[in-house]
This record gives sequence, structure tokens and C-alpha cells, in this order.
Amino acid sequence: MKIIMLGAPGAGKGTQAKQIADKYSIPHISTGDIFRANLKAGTELGKKAKEYMDQGLLVPDELTCDLVMDRIGQEDCKNGFVLDGFPRTIPQAEALDAALAKINEKMDYAIDVDVPDENIVNRMSGRRACLNCGATYHIVSIPTKVEGICDRCGNQVVLRDDDQPETVKKRLNVYHEQTQPLIDYYKKQNILKTVDGTRPMEDVFGAIVEILGA
Ligand code: AP5
Repeated sequence: MKIIMLGAPGAGKGTQAKQIADKYSIPHISTGDIFRANLKAGTELGKKAKEYMDQGLLVPDELTCDLVMDRIGQEDCKNGFVLDGFPRTIPQAEALDAALAKINEKMDYAIDVDVPDENIVNRMSGRRACLNCGATYHIVSIPTKVEGICDRCGNQVVLRDDDQPETVKKRLNVYHEQTQPLIDYYKKQNILKTVDGTRPMEDVFGAIVEILGA
């Protein structure tokens, strides 16, 4: 099963993608997590990506596409994968389709987690992320057991640099300009499914499982 998670920044793509990956035993591939891991490791890719991420801009397609194509070509992706944060532009979507067409494959589902902009800024200011293991929390809806400490690995959880309200507004503009057109792109391919992302997380996941099958 090959799945794309679509949605605005903070819509809950990562939250749902992790659960999909667990339930269906497929890898969760988040381009944002890959860039943050590179930044933490001090790689050139991480340094370049940070310049764009901190401004709320997209990392250029040429830095993004090859790394995703490499990743989905790996052995553990044979039975499928869930893409979280990729594609984010029409050229990225076309590159993905072209890479899959070469091996006679195509994406099965594009799931749009729909959340209005008004809800997003609040959600993001409450998000806390562990930059060590990638776990995410929310100070109200999913707090850590010990304040400020990741339940999973014991490192500190922080407000991501790009979750500052001004940067979130920029990310939302970029989303509407460059990523939202993918909704029509996948509608035309007949693989678009929309879920209401304003509902509680368990309900959103329930709606996704209804689409994908138990
Ligand atoms: P990335 O890390 O992908 O960020 P994003 O898409 O902006 O998405 P987020 O991770 O911010 O949010 P999410 O939708 O996963 O929500 P989450 O589940 O955490 O990318 C960061 C940057 O990297 C980009 O801005 C760009 O610069 C660059 N980049 C990445 N991919 C790229 C690409 N392909 N091309 C170019 N550049 C790229 O949930 C958010 C919060 O809400 C959490 O606190 C969560 O607990 C809470 N929450 C989740 N669901 C619910 C719910 N149903 N009800 C209440 N709260 C909820």
C-alpha cells in the first residue's frame, strides 16, 4: 500500500502517518524528519535545508526529490510506504509518478487531512517536538508524562524553530500557493480521499482506516 499524506502544516499528517505505518507495517517517510536528522548530524544537506525551513520556505525540489526516490527504492519499501510531507509541489508529484511508472507502479491513496487555517496557528504553538527521536506532543492534547521531557527517549522536547507564529503564517501561505494544487492533481488521478482533521486524533485515524481497510 503506497500512501501520500496531504494537508497544511500542522494538520496532523505526521501524527496519522506514524499510526498508519504501525498498523500496516510499512515505513513512515517524512521529508521534514529527514531534513531535521541531517541538520542534527551536521550534514551539508541539513545546513542547506535549514536556510529554507527557518524562513518557512520549501527546500528546493532538486535537494528533495532524489533523496525520496532513493528511500522508496530501499528493500523495506517493497510492500509500500507512507509519505509524509512529500510531494509538496507539482514537479515533486510528477517526479514521483515518473519514478514509479518506470517500475510499473503507482500511488494508491492521497489522503488529505483537512484543517482550516484558523486552527493551525494554535495547534503549532502548542506542539512540542523531540529533535532526538522525532516524537511529537501537544501541551494540551498529548502532553509528555514529565514536563519538557520526551516519553520515548528522555531528551528535551522543544518548540521547533519553524513553529514560531510568524513562520507558521508564512508556511501556510507557501502551502496554499505550492502544495494545495496537489489536491486537484490527485483528484484527477482518482486517488484523493479527504478526512476531517479537526476531529479528535482517534476519530481521524478511524476515518483513515475505513478508507484503507482494516
Ligand atoms: P514538515 O516537518 O513536513 O512540516 P509540515 O508539513 O509543515 O508539517 P508538520 O510536521 O508541521 O505538521 P503535521 O501535519 O505533520 O502535524 P503533526 O502531526 O505534527 O516540514 C518542515 C519543513 O521542511 C517545511 O516547511 C519545508 O521547509 C521542509 N520540507 C519538508 N518536506 C519538503 C518537501 N517535500 N519539499 C520541500 N521542502 C520540504 O500535528 C501538529 C500538532 O497538532 C501536534 O502537536 C499534534 O499533537 C497536534 N494534533 C495532530 N492531530 C490533531 C488532532 N486531530 N486534534 C488536535 N491536535 C492534533
